[in-house]
Amino acid sequence: MAGENVKGEDKVPATPEGPRKLDRREVLRGLSTVPALGVFGYAWSKQRQYQQARLAEASAPPAAPADLQQVNVALIGAGAQGQVLTDAMLRIPGLRFRAVCDVWAEYNQKRVVNSLRRFKHEVTGYEDYREMLDKEKELDAVIIATPDFWHAQHTVDCLKAGKHVYCEKEMSNTLEGARSMVAAARETGKLLQIGHQRRSNPRYLHCYNKLLGEAKLLGRIVTVNGQWNRAVAADLGAPDRYVIPQARLKQYGFKDMHQFRNWRWYKGLGGGPIVDLGSHQIDIYTWFLGANPSHVMASGGLLYHDPKTHEWYDTVMAVYDYETAQGPVKAYYQTQTTNGSQGYFENFMGDQGTLLISESEVNYAGQLYRDPNAPAWDTWIQKGYLTAPKVQERTLKENSGAVADVRESVSPDQHTVPVVLRDPYHQPHLQNFFDAVRGKAKLNCPPEVGYESAVSVLKVNEAIEAKTRVAFKPEDFKI
Ligand SMILES: NC(=O)c1ccc[n+]([C@@H]2O[C@H](COP(=O)([O-])OP(=O)(O)OC[C@H]3O[C@@H](n4cnc5c(N)ncnc54)[C@H](O)[C@@H]3O)[C@@H](O)[C@H]2O)c1
Repeated sequence: MAGENVKGEDKVPATPEGPRKLDRREVLRGLSTVPALGVFGYAWSKQRQYQQARLAEASAPPAAPADLQQVNVALIGAGAQGQVLTDAMLRIPGLRFRAVCDVWAEYNQKRVVNSLRRFKHEVTGYEDYREMLDKEKELDAVIIATPDFWHAQHTVDCLKAGKHVYCEKEMSNTLEGARSMVAAARETGKLLQIGHQRRSNPRYLHCYNKLLGEAKLLGRIVTVNGQWNRAVAADLGAPDRYVIPQARLKQYGFKDMHQFRNWRWYKGLGGGPIVDLGSHQIDIYTWFLGANPSHVMASGGLLYHDPKTHEWYDTVMAVYDYETAQGPVKAYYQTQTTNGSQGYFENFMGDQGTLLISESEVNYAGQLYRDPNAPAWDTWIQKGYLTAPKVQERTLKENSGAVADVRESVSPDQHTVPVVLRDPYHQPHLQNFFDAVRGKAKLNCPPEVGYESAVSVLKVNEAIEAKTRVAFKPEDFKI
């Protein structure tokens, strides 16, 4: 579903977690077309190719095995992420969209309804999710991609209406909200998957199961560092003719159109970049370390953006302590929204090696570095768990003028993770959810896991405010 341009957004489909990048093949194909068509011609041709490919897909939906149980699905929240999830779901066989609910009836709702109809899904659009739940009796599952402060109410009500739920991260902007979601899942016996999609990403699973779990390539992990840095971006806007009437905005908890579009920056609605972006990666810290943090200290502030329209911190630096089964770990995390240098990644450093991984494989291929003192990795290379080493250049380039101290560490050889995700980022996590709905898999991110992650992440804002190192108690993570 190609996004339309909305005033204030320079690239669409705009998900604040990053506009879609062209993959290498698309770039190469594009470059070969540019001289003939010029840049605008190329853009037009690209768009047409995209639309044609989409139309072709629409007339030939993914073939479902004859015995595959059809799952009837609805979407609540058809914004940037709702559209990304819809696109990924269109590639999953055996799904039938029935309804789309979005309060922005004249824009996002209409756009996704129309697009799904083009894909031959008979969907009805709703503004009120309760009306949708009343009328759409055949629904099996609901996908929730509304702003964080709506997640708890939407999820609890859908679970209580007997639906399985896939709810986007951050599970909730409050721990009370997140707890009510866990309780509702337990009470109803319905499935609740939280949208930390890296937990189903085959590259992350390979790292967790094979490289860290079986081969223990990093030895004892002692430190972790990670970041999500983004350049300054314009606030999100809306075309004048699609502005939502004030009464409706108020009804759904927004004071004006700016807040409706930029809810992440507002207290009580979202949690700022640390929650929006950090939640993905701090979840990976916990997962890979096999422990919840014991303490966090953090510094943050609104250093750059206008405080009238940005309530949360635009810059956060946090240090977590973990007590893992192998020993203590310090984990640093940074997010800033004024310079996108080096993008986003997680870097795990042990006494035998380092793993640098990111969901963005285009920018980080999944590098592994063996410490020169570590046991050989040959067995694991032969098994195909990682690539053979690319030997790092050890001699300084002649005439560079640089001087190396004789005690300089030799830089370790670089290997890469050989597993590549060829599907959209969210597809494996959605697939895992639908497999679980059909009774064929266990959820990769059940609500208890989402809750642990929410506890770790929401505490950062608390630590910044308190200007002190904050302790977690083991019972903080239990419900
Ligand atoms: N997993 C990921 O990688 C990822 C990426 C981006 C966003 N997200 C998450 O997805 C969620 C949505 O983010 P987004 O970027 O799409 O935001 P968005 O503002 O673009 O979209 C939210 C949509 O929800 C609708 N909405 C608001 N209140 C509603 C209500 N009460 N009932 C029905 N519809 C309502 C809005 O009209 C809008 O269309 C957030 O929780 C965000 O954290 C996850």
